[in-house]
Amino acid sequence: TPKGSCLESVKIAIDTGYRHIDGAFVYYNEHEVGQAIREKIAEGRINREDIFYCGKLWNTCHPPELVRPTLEKTLKILQLDYVDLYIIELPMAFKPGDAIYPKDENGKIIYHETDLCATWEAMEACKDAGLAKSIGVSNFNRRQLEMILNKPGLKYKPVSNQVECHPYFTQPKLLEFCRQHDIVIVGYSPLGTSRDETWVNVSSPPLLKDPVLNAIGKKYNKTAAQVALRFSIQRGVVVIPKSFNPQRIRENFQIFDFSLTEKEMKEIEALNKNVRYVELLM
Ligand code: A2P
Repeated sequence: TPKGSCLESVKIAIDTGYRHIDGAFVYYNEHEVGQAIREKIAEGRINREDIFYCGKLWNTCHPPELVRPTLEKTLKILQLDYVDLYIIELPMAFKPGDAIYPKDENGKIIYHETDLCATWEAMEACKDAGLAKSIGVSNFNRRQLEMILNKPGLKYKPVSNQVECHPYFTQPKLLEFCRQHDIVIVGYSPLGTSRDETWVNVSSPPLLKDPVLNAIGKKYNKTAAQVALRFSIQRGVVVIPKSFNPQRIRENFQIFDFSLTEKEMKEIEALNKNVRYVELLM
């Protein structure tokens, strides 16, 4: 996004009432997010403790000795003392170094052998040091979650697992598993992504054009986007819709003044295609 648009969008979001902000070092806009939060605190609009900021540990920083310095770097960029949630962004590790996507001479990603359990112990130490209030994971499947949950001497369970989740990819099995273990599912791409072909599988049709979502929306005088978000929160999935447009930022917040019936929830659940928009082919 153009420089400054993130700063403006986060300020509009905070004014609208959003409190959960999903960020990452690799989005390269953490400095703008931090500035927006700090400006809103200085204005007296919010206190730091009203905000829930989620930061992410990138794939090149999985070796345990890199975890805390990486989080400290994020805090320095944000100019905040702590993040509310710090999560392992992906379960696979890349070769440490300056390159975010380290590649060999054939253009292939260079992976790195690390022990996810050791990475997790370093995450636990960040929580103990007060740098992260809570710790979690992202893009973990059941097997990877079990590896952490069954780790001998586990100090803290992951509080959340951020994965793709929306009416076309409802994740029923993972959702049930996480429910059983008190792990919150945070659903990314809740609106079906921006359909950017460089990272999105666009062979799956656009979510917001779905006739069922639109028909249900008509009944409540809501848009398909609002119905999609309402569907997720009503089944206990946290949503992190992305928009850099003031009108749509506000629209995506107007989902607390209606509710879907059980029949409508079932109808939307039946839209599941079990196809990801974000395939993360690496
Ligand atoms: P924009 O930033 O122009 O609003 P996701 O959250 O699933 O990743 O989807 C993000 C995409 O959806 C962005 O391209 C965003 O564009 C668009 N978007 C966000 N909110 C809405 C909305 N209420 N209606 C339609 N498109 C939206």
